[in-house]
Amino acid sequence: MKLFLVLALVATSALASQRRYDGYQVFEVNPKNKVSLEVLTKLRNERSDVYDFWTDPRNINLPVDIMVPPAFASTFINLMRTFEVDYKVKIADVEAMIEAGRKDIAKPIIRKEPRLSRAGTPRYSLNWESYSDLPAIEEFLAELSAAYPNLMTTTVVGQSYEGNNMNLVKISTGGTGKKAIFVDGGIHAREWISPAYVTWLIHELVENYAAHPQYVDNIDWYIMPVINPDGYRYTFAANGDRLWRKTRKPNPGSPCIGTDMNRNFGFHWDEGGSSDLPCGDTYNGGVAFSEIESQIVRDTILSVAPQTMVYLTVHSYGQYWLTPWGYTSDYPADYDQLYDLAVRAVDKLTALYGTQYTIGTSTNVLYVASGGSDDWAKGGAGIPYSYTVELRDTGRYGFELPATEILPNNAEMWEAFKVVAEDVMAM
Ligand code: ARG
Ligand code: ZN
Repeated sequence: MKLFLVLALVATSALASQRRYDGYQVFEVNPKNKVSLEVLTKLRNERSDVYDFWTDPRNINLPVDIMVPPAFASTFINLMRTFEVDYKVKIADVEAMIEAGRKDIAKPIIRKEPRLSRAGTPRYSLNWESYSDLPAIEEFLAELSAAYPNLMTTTVVGQSYEGNNMNLVKISTGGTGKKAIFVDGGIHAREWISPAYVTWLIHELVENYAAHPQYVDNIDWYIMPVINPDGYRYTFAANGDRLWRKTRKPNPGSPCIGTDMNRNFGFHWDEGGSSDLPCGDTYNGGVAFSEIESQIVRDTILSVAPQTMVYLTVHSYGQYWLTPWGYTSDYPADYDQLYDLAVRAVDKLTALYGTQYTIGTSTNVLYVASGGSDDWAKGGAGIPYSYTVELRDTGRYGFELPATEILPNNAEMWEAFKVVAEDVMAM
């Protein structure tokens, strides 16, 4: 009996291996005319089970990154040749890149002593020299809120489908009637730089409070660093998938798991640019707010919406600062204000290291994609300034952004966030 158990354990651990991407290539293709743009859009919408669009077909002459499995490489190349789409290999072997990226993952934390933080001295923080899985992020949140109880509180506002905590951080010096900024990260599991920035933002506001007390004295910050915790953990898991995007709830009647939370919000939901098929990587969930995680984010935002002036949802990659709308190419009535703040924020960002960001409405800069949290935050929750920020890079590494870029990415984005905070203080 004992032996059987041991054998069973060995067998399961042998089976538990991460999804591999041997021989997968990422092509950069450039649609030169309407027909080739239509071919790519059709591939995106109808063959998203085969082709993983890391960026989406947007416009003529705007390049698109597509991951192609080895078995489809020649089919894909033939298709590109037939429709005279320029193509080049951008990443020759995705598996090799994932394996190279393993060195960038923080070691799991093994706590030897009980937690004993005194106020003002966190015993554990993150260093942003590597990417941290959810348990380390939660440890960081617990340590920081224990060390700075007058600045920061962490509340579990609900549990994900798999029972992971949905954490809400409030950074505030107290008082009532202050304007607020709401920030979330990690809606798409594989976009690791997003929680890496959002956790760093918490650190900067709290541990570096004395350098710029005005941003916390005058503003309440509501921050949810990882709003798709199941997906995020799955990208780190030994039996997971580094390139997972969606939630992890099974879809009845389908072998495919998960919903794209950023197609699941209930403002002009399912009005284009999302998939109705559970196997699609942009599956909209079948009904708005089908996912417990999007429900929790919705309810949390609504609970602070009256004081909240700005909503920032942090993604990667592409270096974009996007405004609503994502469901239509129409512009919001107050687009001039949204654009003006975005331009000033991005100017400061670029001034630090020269990194370029593109500004515009999601639909006009990228593509139609309805059900986004940004559209809902503005149209549904009434938050005037709503932005999607797509962090580094522009596809050299894509989701596998080397950890050496975390700190520079964060420093330049903080320049932009300071501009936003200054504006909120004047609102
Ligand atoms: N890359 C993001 C996505 O595809 C962009 C979202 C922009 N917002 C929007 N409502 N479409 O989800
Ligand atoms: Zn994203």
